[in-house]
Amino acid sequence: MRQMKLGLFFAPGGHHLAAWRHPDAYPDGFNVSTYVSMAQMAERGCFDMLFVADVYSITPKGKRADTFRFEPLTLLSALSMMTRNIGLVATATTSFNEPYNVARKFSSLDHISNGRAGWNIVTSSSATEALNFGLDEHLPHAERYRRAHEFVQVVRGLWDSFDDDGVVIDKQNGVFFDPSKLHMLNHAGEFFKVRGPLTLPRSPQGQPVLVQAGSSEVGKNLAAEVAEVVFTIQRDLNESQAFCADVKARAAKFGRDPQHVLIMPGVMPIVGRTRQEAQDKYELLQSLIHPEAGLMGLSRTLGTDLTGVDVNGPLPDIDAAKLTQSRAVGILEAARRDNLTVRQVYEKLLVSKGHRQIFGTAVDIADTLQEWFEAGGADGYNIMPASTPGGLADFVDLVVPELQRRGVFRYAYKGGMLRDHLGLPRPPNRYV
Ligand SMILES: Cc1cc2nc3c(=O)[nH]c(=O)nc-3n(C[C@H](O)[C@H](O)[C@H](O)COP(=O)(O)O)c2cc1C
Repeated sequence: MRQMKLGLFFAPGGHHLAAWRHPDAYPDGFNVSTYVSMAQMAERGCFDMLFVADVYSITPKGKRADTFRFEPLTLLSALSMMTRNIGLVATATTSFNEPYNVARKFSSLDHISNGRAGWNIVTSSSATEALNFGLDEHLPHAERYRRAHEFVQVVRGLWDSFDDDGVVIDKQNGVFFDPSKLHMLNHAGEFFKVRGPLTLPRSPQGQPVLVQAGSSEVGKNLAAEVAEVVFTIQRDLNESQAFCADVKARAAKFGRDPQHVLIMPGVMPIVGRTRQEAQDKYELLQSLIHPEAGLMGLSRTLGTDLTGVDVNGPLPDIDAAKLTQSRAVGILEAARRDNLTVRQVYEKLLVSKGHRQIFGTAVDIADTLQEWFEAGGADGYNIMPASTPGGLADFVDLVVPELQRRGVFRYAYKGGMLRDHLGLPRPPNRYV
C-alpha cells in the first residue's frame, strides 16, 4: 500500500507568526537543545525527514523569532549524532554560494549521517540577502534560475567524482584510491568554471536527495528536471491536484519517472483532543500576534515596506507582476479576491507563512491528510507545527497513530537512508 511521506519543517518556536510568544515556547531560550528534542520527537513519530529553511539576512527589528537561525549544515551535523534514522534536509541557495562548497558540505553530511542528507535548492527571494554578498540587489528572476540550473549540474557532477568502489584503501600495495575510478568534471559554463574532483568519496546515497521549492514556471521546470521532493504551498485540493499533475507531467517530459518526484505541500496543523480544544489553541496564538510583527512579515513577504499603513484598510497597490516569488503572489491574490484588510491578511494568511492551516481532532486532521493523499493532491506533507514543543507532540502522539492505524503511514523505519524512507532509487554514477 502506498504510504504518505512526512517531513518536519523545523521552526524552533513553532510556525505560527506569534508562536514564539506562547508560554511553552523556547523553554531554554535560543539553544541547540530545542532542536535536538524536536528532532528526536519527529524520529519517534517515524518522520521521513527534518527540513531546515535558510535565509541570509534578518529584519532588524525585534518583533519576530524566525530571524535567528543556525547555519543549517552545521546544525544538521550535530543532529545527525543525536538521531539514527530521520532524514536531514538543509536549504542552500544557488544565488549566494559556489557549487564546489555546496557539493562538499552535502556530501560530508551524507557521509557523517550514513546516508540521510538532502539538499533543498532555492534561488532566494528576500531582497536583502544580496546586500551581504557584495551586491546592491538580487539577480533578475530568470538569471537566478539559469544560475540554479547550472549550479545543480555542477554539484551533481562533483558528487560523481569517484566511482562507488573508487576508494580501495589497499594497505598491502599502498593504494588508497584507484585513480582510474576518479573523474575530473572540467565544467565551464555561463556562471561557473569548476575542474573537480570533489575531495570526498561518493557518499552513501550516491547523491544526497534533491529537494526544490520554487513554484514559478521556471521554478517548476527546475523541480521537474532535478527534484526528487518538491515543497509547495497549496491551500486548495483542486489547485494541489493540478500542481502535482503539472510537475509530474513535466518530469515525464524530462524522461523521469513521475513517481520519483514527491510533492509535499506544507500544512500547519492545530490538533486538539476535541475540536474546541483545537479552536482554543488557535485563538490563543492569534491573540498573541503583535501588529508590528504582522506588518513586518507582510513587508518582507511582499517585498514592499508597509510601515505606517492602516491595518484596518486594504493593502496598498502592489504590482503582482513585479513579485518574484509565488508565495507572495498567492497571498496578494487571496487578499484581493476575499477583500481582506491588512490585518486580516496577516491574521489569516501570513500566520502560517501562506500555507494551509488545518484544525481539529486527530481524526479530522488524518481525514484531510488522507483525502489529499488519495486524491492525487499530495505524496506527503511538510508538517509545520503551529507551536512547539506542544504542537509537534500533539502531531506525533495523536495524528501519527491515527495515520498508522489507517495504513497510510509507516510504523517503523525499514532502511537506514533517506532514499529508503522516500522510496527513491540510488542515482547511478554518470561515468559508469
Ligand atoms: C516550503 C517552502 C520552503 C522554502 N524554503 C526556502 C528557504 O529556506 N530559503 C529561501 O530562500 N527560499 C525558500 N523558499 C522559496 C523558494 O524556494 C523559491 O526560492 C522562491 O519561492 C522563489 O521561487 P519561485 O519564484 O519559483 O516561487 C521556500 C518555499 C517553500 C514553498
